[in-house]
Amino acid sequence: MEQERTAAAIAARERWGENPRAFVRTYGCQQNVADGEKIKGLLMEMGFGFTESAEEADFILFNTCAVREHAEDRVFGNVGALKNQKRRRPEVMIAVCGCMTEQSHVADRLKQSFPFVDIVFGTGAIHRLPGLMLEVLTQSKRAFLRGCQDEAQLEGLPIRRDGTSRAWVTAMVGCDNFCSYCIVPYVRGRERSREPGAILDECRGLIEAGYKEITLLGQNVNSYGKGLAGGVDFAGLLRELDKIPGDYRIRFMTSHPKDASEELFQVMAESEHIPHHIHLPFQSGNDRVLTEMNRRYTREKYLSLIKTARRLMPDITFTSDVIVGFPGETYEEFQDTLSLVREVEFSNLFTFIYSPRVGTKAASMPDPVSHEEKTKWFAELLRVQEEIAAKNCRALVGTKQRVLVESVNEKNGLLQGRTLGSLVVDFSGSPELVGEFAWVEVTEAKGWTLKGTEIKGGT
Ligand code: SAH
Ligand code: SF4
Ligand code: F3S
Repeated sequence: MEQERTAAAIAARERWGENPRAFVRTYGCQQNVADGEKIKGLLMEMGFGFTESAEEADFILFNTCAVREHAEDRVFGNVGALKNQKRRRPEVMIAVCGCMTEQSHVADRLKQSFPFVDIVFGTGAIHRLPGLMLEVLTQSKRAFLRGCQDEAQLEGLPIRRDGTSRAWVTAMVGCDNFCSYCIVPYVRGRERSREPGAILDECRGLIEAGYKEITLLGQNVNSYGKGLAGGVDFAGLLRELDKIPGDYRIRFMTSHPKDASEELFQVMAESEHIPHHIHLPFQSGNDRVLTEMNRRYTREKYLSLIKTARRLMPDITFTSDVIVGFPGETYEEFQDTLSLVREVEFSNLFTFIYSPRVGTKAASMPDPVSHEEKTKWFAELLRVQEEIAAKNCRALVGTKQRVLVESVNEKNGLLQGRTLGSLVVDFSGSPELVGEFAWVEVTEAKGWTLKGTEIKGGT
């Protein structure tokens, strides 16, 4: 592998000179963002610098998402737009990777209709990128590699992180749940967990380097540890991580309600570093729809989890994912989703209209409700959630919040920070605070965003 990487770096210099530049665009979830950081790590090791302009790049890569049709359409549009560039500058190399490429109909389409794409590789083949580039550079042919899920990429890849205060750390990859609407288990393979020691070392290193927030990633972090020796589970992993000394936060996503345990909430309640906030997707508030979705919990079970969490952490906030218009869902069933949203009062919701995915069970279910009708239900859900979010935000006016300052808003020059509950607060302050914690008094709630003023010297 080392030899392959070195040879690829030499071949890259021969083709593109001393300062080759790469354009890397990632779509989709944080898992993909984390993969993108590994891809950039490998490219950096090969001597690449990075550019935000595909026009200027020698190497162009799209790291794709397959979760909904809209995401796929954007990728085909953007990749298609590179055809002329490749004609003008044939030395440019174009690669497509990520979840879309693990679907055979997509890989076939890329092969046949996008001849200017040089490399296509799947979600388990990131570590092979330098080798694939070497093949293209030295043998003048296209390279395709999919369906490879070996362990090599779980550890030891260089990472070029996008942020300096927030970092993504992979806890596990893959998904075994096969929710009937979802493509992820098909494109990400089976669940595999990293060894706890490797995760602890990575987190320790990040905290020592000054990172203030670590988000542990997995499609279903609550099943972390399955298949590892030593009987470690996710709650146990969190307990160990929380012992690392320092001023930092640990978040995690995503939790599946079927595996979220009282033990997990207990660890959160007792921890020093885990915010009292959990992203717990419920998808639907109706039991028949949940069964059809193969979610393996009921509305009652979900609500009882919320109750347990609130008993242990009265200040806990929840965010969630919801699908509107699952095949066969009726308007009455959709009302159960609305009532659950009203009952729980999520601080934020990620809402999606059902999108059929080739090869999933739901894609072959009768789906009689029109897209137009689903769009109306969707708007109804958004209205309900906006009211709740606005109410939650109003309730915070006058409170003091410890925020992690993430950026300066280019438009108004205000700092933007995130509360423990993951809400965004805009406030005026010195740009030097970016990447640091600050205390802010919330002075105003505008819709579902917060404004505040810095409390200097606050503790
Ligand atoms: N592993 C996570 C979510 C992964 S995908 C979990 O189980 O919660 C992120 C979200 O996209 C899902 O929670 C779901 O709400 C949505 N989603 C997945 N497949 C979808 C589809 N076919 N159509 C619409 N939304 C979908
Ligand atoms: Fe998809 Fe369900 Fe797995 Fe989440 S748990 S990635 S929704 S199959
Ligand atoms: Fe998309 Fe793949 Fe994530 S399908 S949501 S990028 S796991």
